[in-house]
Amino acid sequence: MGKKISGSAKSIQLLLLLCFSLSNFLDLAYADPPCKSCSDDSSYSDNSPFKNNLEILMSYLRSNASVSKLYNTSTGNDLDRIYAQYMCLNYAAHDECSTCIKVASQTITRLCPGDKEAVVWEELCQLRYSSQNFSAHLDVSRNIPQYIKKEVKNPAQFRLVVNETLDNLIEQASFNASANMYTTREVTTDTYTLYALAQCSADLSPYDCNTCLQVSRANISSCCDACRGVRVLTRSCYLWYEFYSFYEGETNSAEEGKCFCMLFNFRTESC
Ligand SMILES: *[C@@H]1O[C@H](CO)[C@@H](O)[C@H](O)[C@H]1NC(C)=O
Ligand SMILES: *[C@@H]1O[C@H](CO)[C@@H](O)[C@H](O)[C@H]1NC(C)=O
Ligand SMILES: *[C@@H]1O[C@H](CO)[C@@H](O)[C@H](O)[C@H]1NC(C)=O
Ligand SMILES: *[C@@H]1O[C@H](CO)[C@@H](O)[C@H](O)[C@H]1NC(C)=O
Ligand SMILES: *[C@@H]1O[C@H](CO)[C@@H](O)[C@H](O)[C@H]1NC(C)=O
Ligand SMILES: *[C@@H]1O[C@H](CO)[C@@H](O)[C@H](O)[C@H]1NC(C)=O
Repeated sequence: MGKKISGSAKSIQLLLLLCFSLSNFLDLAYADPPCKSCSDDSSYSDNSPFKNNLEILMSYLRSNASVSKLYNTSTGNDLDRIYAQYMCLNYAAHDECSTCIKVASQTITRLCPGDKEAVVWEELCQLRYSSQNFSAHLDVSRNIPQYIKKEVKNPAQFRLVVNETLDNLIEQASFNASANMYTTREVTTDTYTLYALAQCSADLSPYDCNTCLQVSRANISSCCDACRGVRVLTRSCYLWYEFYSFYEGETNSAEEGKCFCMLFNFRTESC
């Protein structure tokens, strides 16, 4: 007490504080305040028709959100035209999807104010809009991998299991028409059960779905393929795996460590 703390001591303190509250903080950041990706290359101003159209579109999405898990719409003329789409995780119930979109439609304008292109990922859904028509267009340009910082005990063996699991998952989600671009897979070994999920935006072609998932998989390989859980967020698809059955409503157990760590990218994207 009383002694003035120097700048660097302060930042060390801050760092320690961050570390101690890391699991809570990241859990929060992971689940509730959503991940976002805003493009700031073109913007709209406060009293513009674009802004007005955006508000209209968001209200359309909200009011239509109980109907289906994937929904797109568009409004406005020429330069002020906006295209919007939401996609819920397929395992979300309709009412959960609807609630998620209501939240996302509000957070997106808060997190990406003035941007003519943006996406937010909530726990169970994603919502995006753009001045470009992105319907049926693959976009893997700004993916965000999130991961649990804890590594598995036997990374080499784990990579093999993950590789094989994802191979099969990606194949099914992309090319098995009856899967409707959504598949989950459960693989049990001596020491763990892996729960994996792949989902594409259903307006994509099977070929583009496959590309999206393969790029996501490459992202996993280059960031965190020995981690106990990874979720790649992209505009066009999801590729996730965990050690608990998240797609059946199970939540992460305490001993597993709630610490989801994001690959922080402070330029235009953050979680
Ligand atoms: C659903 O969206 C459409 C536009 O795509 C809009 O015309 C309609 O009013 C919305 N539904 C409701 C109940 O608002
Ligand atoms: C919604 O998506 C479908 C399928 O890609 C597309 O044909 C349609 O034009 C889209 N609607 C709008 C309003 O963009
Ligand atoms: C958007 O693009 C899709 C795919 O290219 C096309 O089918 C659709 O008609 C377009 N929608 C609008 C509203 O222009
Ligand atoms: C990961 O995803 C990004 C898109 O966000 C892509 O440009 C990049 O090449 C990917 N990285 C790897 C190693 O696959
Ligand atoms: C996993 O698969 C990728 C390509 O599918 C390959 O490059 C990589 O070597 C594989 N890793 C392991 C551990 O088998
Ligand atoms: C395609 O998916 C369906 C439903 O998940 C499954 O029953 C079927 O075995 C799959 N077909 C192939 C060839 O894997």
